[in-house]
Amino acid sequence: MNLTGDEVILEIGAGTGRIIQSLSHMCFDLFLLDPSPAMLAKARKKIPSANHCLGYAESLPFESAFFDRAFAIDSLHHWNNQEEGLSEVFRVLKDQGLFILIEFDPETRFGHYIKSMERFLLMGSEFFTPKQIRRLLSSNGLTVFKQYYIDDATYISVAKKSIKTTP
Ligand SMILES: C[S@@+](CC[C@H](N)C(=O)[O-])C[C@H]1O[C@@H](n2cnc3c(N)ncnc32)[C@H](O)[C@@H]1O
Repeated sequence: MNLTGDEVILEIGAGTGRIIQSLSHMCFDLFLLDPSPAMLAKARKKIPSANHCLGYAESLPFESAFFDRAFAIDSLHHWNNQEEGLSEVFRVLKDQGLFILIEFDPETRFGHYIKSMERFLLMGSEFFTPKQIRRLLSSNGLTVFKQYYIDDATYISVAKKSIKTTP
């Protein structure tokens, strides 16, 4: 991950900060958002230098065009409403800002297992294939320009916000 060190970065559904922790020393300003006070309390201990924000993807408590990059790692399938959350991601990103999304593909063996487990646990999760994610992001103004698997089931999508200007 190339970071210049002066980016303002958001993780949506950061949980305890388990993954983003490894990038925290490279960020100018890191915001960790999660609806769970218990998760945020752990994140606060793990990454005290970050800004810890209680909130939901569907109603981000930030100004428009505030972030250079937004991450959603193993979190989008938990959101209550992915369309609303993604339109919020579009709003809070700067023009040319990047959205980095990590999800499980429900059509892979392990992805199917995760989907079944979360259904069994009545978690209300909604999983998307890479193709569905490209469509979903595109309909919210985010163009996927890189997408690949990082293991048998987990894939990363990198999308850019581009504001269309009328000639
Ligand atoms: C599986 S955890 C992933 C945490 C972290 N990103 C990681 O990789 O360790 C999913 C997180 O999404 C959060 N979450 C659930 N619903 C959410 C929503 N509507 N908006 C934002 N985050 C949400 C949960 O509280 C939880 O911390």
